[in-house]
Amino acid sequence: MKIKNICCIGAGYVGGPTMAVIAQKCPDIKVTVVDINTDRIAAWNDENVENIPIYEPGLSDVVAEARGRNLFFSTNVEKAIDEAEMIFISVNTPTKTYGIGKGMAADLKYIELSARQIASVAKSDKIIIEKSTLPVRTAEAIKNILDNSGNGVNFQILSNPEFLAEGTAVENLLNPDRVLIGGEQTEEGEKAVQALVNIYARWIPEDRLLTTNVWSSELSKLTANAFLAQRISSINAMSELCEMTEADVDEVARAIGSDSRIGPKFLKASVGFGGSCFQKDILNLIYIAQSYGLQEVADYWEQVIIMNNHQRNRFSRNIVQTLFNTVSGKKIAFLGWAFKKETNDTRESAAIYVADNLIDEQADIVVYDPKVKSEQMYADLDYLNSRDENINREKLTVVNDPYSACKDAHAIAILTEWDEFKDYDWQRIYDGMMKPAFVFDGRNILDKEKLEEIGFDYYCIGK
Ligand code: NAD
Ligand code: UDX
Repeated sequence: MKIKNICCIGAGYVGGPTMAVIAQKCPDIKVTVVDINTDRIAAWNDENVENIPIYEPGLSDVVAEARGRNLFFSTNVEKAIDEAEMIFISVNTPTKTYGIGKGMAADLKYIELSARQIASVAKSDKIIIEKSTLPVRTAEAIKNILDNSGNGVNFQILSNPEFLAEGTAVENLLNPDRVLIGGEQTEEGEKAVQALVNIYARWIPEDRLLTTNVWSSELSKLTANAFLAQRISSINAMSELCEMTEADVDEVARAIGSDSRIGPKFLKASVGFGGSCFQKDILNLIYIAQSYGLQEVADYWEQVIIMNNHQRNRFSRNIVQTLFNTVSGKKIAFLGWAFKKETNDTRESAAIYVADNLIDEQADIVVYDPKVKSEQMYADLDYLNSRDENINREKLTVVNDPYSACKDAHAIAILTEWDEFKDYDWQRIYDGMMKPAFVFDGRNILDKEKLEEIGFDYYCIGK
């Protein structure tokens, strides 16, 4: 089957970059990314391509090349569905905040709405692709909706989970370790899989295009995120033991990471993992295991989350205890708010939790982040905690230069590993601070010896 028109529902961190790269690599295919969020679509269409709503290195160049040629952003969801032979569903699947499974299960309402909309609009056969991360066996529910509320046309459902990491999305999309495609093992299913394989094969070697059954593909996505997050919680657990024993967590990570069976990646101790995926997907996995009555499986994965919460909390507790057991009225500078470098995404960032703990202790927080806007920081705090919103605005100030953030501060907390932090004039920062001057490096990125030589009391994770 020759695909000429692709529609993607959801113009977020996954839909936007993924479709931009498909459009760049397949100039003969019209790719339309649709969203109900009019502001987001307007930003994707902004004349100045630097104003697109997602910051990712290299993304604006890809968008600049394809936008208006064969890449389009629109709020006209129905038209795009109608025209497409292949529809990616890339809507958000956040943790449920209500009802059964509250705080654990993935909220599938946006998926169901998309499926119902496709069913009501479609007048010709279509391939529907689950790009969102979904609980295993969701394709069954989508098929049920499509087959029972559609216009009698045929739908093939594929699972094609996305493995990109934010901050390196374009690089990951151009050169992925693998692309996973799950399809029904029938003649029609295989044809649909082949149609998607043909698209990716334009720029990805065929041996990296893995095909499986639908359920394996759906479950592999949750499994991959659980394994990655588990490595971080494992090294973070060791970081606490290192602090007690004078072992150095970076040295331990290097020592174990050179075992080829373990490997060196994802062993960086930190103030805790953030991002929209790890916590949400593990909670979902726990919920699924519980729903099948697999309590030991659920308990096993829950420890990854428990450890991550503990790591964030002990970081803020360490700040309070080190500052003579009180931070009330003291200025604490935060360098970084994003959940990792090279992104403006703040979802589940450790910074939000650390700030929240310190606001409870009545600290005055001043934040500098190179990419995150102040409205986003306040929205993050308001979402996390039901305290009076005015308190968040009184106790947290946002500035746009690091030196004024640190001026007169008692302590600095490094919450994101932005490279620029390493290049600051740390002597100048020290000179402007209250003494003793403390640095709490939640990312282990600064030079301990250099900072101590300047006069800082330097604390980092796992040392
Ligand atoms: P996002 O919130 O950035 O984007 C989702 C978009 O879908 C939003 O703009 C929303 O307005 C839109 N939307 C929701 N319902 C809609 C509807 N009915 N019609 C049209 N638009 C609709 O989310 P995201 O980070 O792009 O994640 C999307 C999915 O991909 C999630 O399932 C997530 O778990 C998964 N995922 C995310 C990442 C990541 O790094 N962010 C990586 C891999 C997988
Ligand atoms: C993750 C997965 O890596 C990606 O494959 C999936 O598609 C989406 O979820 P993402 O959350 O964007 O990607 O970023 P990632 O690089 O995985 O980092 C997640 C969090 O873990 C960040 O807060 C990061 O700082 C932290 N981290 C990562 C560590 O604390 N230590 C590490 O060694 C690696």
